[in-house]
Amino acid sequence: AIDISKLRDLTGYVTLDVGYKNTGATKSAITFLDGELGILKYRGYPIEELAEKSSFIEVAYLLIHGELPTQQQLTSFQYEISRHTLVHEDMKKFFDGFPSKSHPMGQLSSLVCALSAFYPESLKSHQTDEEQHLSIIKMLAKMATVVSWIYKKSLGHPVIYPQNKYDYVTNFLHMTFGQRTEEVEIDPVIVSAMNTLLILHADHEQNCSTSTVRIVGSSESNIYASVSAGISALWGPLHGGANQAVIEMLEQIKEDGGDTDKWIAKAKDKNDPFRLMGFGHRVYKNFDPRAKIIKKACDDILEKLGIDDEVLEIAKRLEEVALKDPYFVERKLYPNVDFYSGIIYRALGFPTDMFTVLFALGRLPGWIAQWKEMKDNKEPIGRPRQIYTGAINREYVDITKR
Ligand code: ACO
Repeated sequence: AIDISKLRDLTGYVTLDVGYKNTGATKSAITFLDGELGILKYRGYPIEELAEKSSFIEVAYLLIHGELPTQQQLTSFQYEISRHTLVHEDMKKFFDGFPSKSHPMGQLSSLVCALSAFYPESLKSHQTDEEQHLSIIKMLAKMATVVSWIYKKSLGHPVIYPQNKYDYVTNFLHMTFGQRTEEVEIDPVIVSAMNTLLILHADHEQNCSTSTVRIVGSSESNIYASVSAGISALWGPLHGGANQAVIEMLEQIKEDGGDTDKWIAKAKDKNDPFRLMGFGHRVYKNFDPRAKIIKKACDDILEKLGIDDEVLEIAKRLEEVALKDPYFVERKLYPNVDFYSGIIYRALGFPTDMFTVLFALGRLPGWIAQWKEMKDNKEPIGRPRQIYTGAINREYVDITKR
């Protein structure tokens, strides 16, 4: 028989931090986040400035390569991406297998993993710098095509092929909202709003999905498998899935007569599993700087598009009531990035179940940058320990005697 106290002496002690609330998993030079002060910077540049002045693809370059690109570097980055936007025709066959109403996140995770079958040169666990660069370019390029195809297939419409005359975001919107029969002009207001949303989602240090990408990649899994795992982690309503859950909640409140006090009371009731979706954050204990930018963008975009959305009013009322309520104040629960993002996605014409897929498209450069950093730093395989709480000594009983 084993004595557990002696066992601990033999195996050593481990730190227990369930949910990794205060455990660093890596050193990283990509994103700086101060949750107390509400500061977010990519590679040292404030998120506010990047959202205002940069394009999404410029930010992708910054995250992945560590520097803002020169015009020449940006042009060549975009050119390289545009050369790989086509996706193997056989990838379309997957859509025949998905039930028509299957969730786009499940489709995205499967399709991204399936890219590994069509581009097997990315499977080498030890890639040269050139090979790694090409894998990254392909991942960025094909993701936008796959996301737009998921949307087209959900409508039962034929897919639209990429057109390389467009920049990354315009090309994505063209494949999403374009038609085969006529040239559809994409409103510059929509292009600009999409750039802002994607930039705000582009990285957020060691969150659930990013940690997943790093840990899967640490076993030397390829880029497609690692990103696919990140997509699965993002899907949950406590993470990226919150943007879908927020709109569904706001709709429900609207249908219920718009009584925000009633729903705040529900969120505070510890016997009710309901939470105010889009509120609270593991790291931000002051405010989420992305939420501030999105709230303003939301007002601007709805005005520019001439949309009067009642759920925006409900969202603002909820925020106002919650921010004065001692329950939310004491727990430092503020609106997060997803509280307002869904309202913009909806105004742009996306269906609710596509929202988290759009988050994934935005988060992709961050996942790639973190995957690359983990590989460049030659980090060991991720492997947490545990405190075993089960039985130590049990006698085996034959099945006939149990
Ligand atoms: N509504 C009501 N109460 C809440 C909420 C909420 N949205 N969020 C946290 N609380 C309460 C908890 O019940 C808990 O109360 P207690 O101390 O009385 O038990 C306290 O605040 C702390 O909450 P935890 O769940 O321990 O905080 P944690 O850091 O683990 O969770 C999380 C953070 C998951 C974001 C949480 O705030 C939440 O569920 N929010 C709603 C979902 C959401 O918006 N997720 C998106 C996050 S942003 C992103 O991933 C892009």
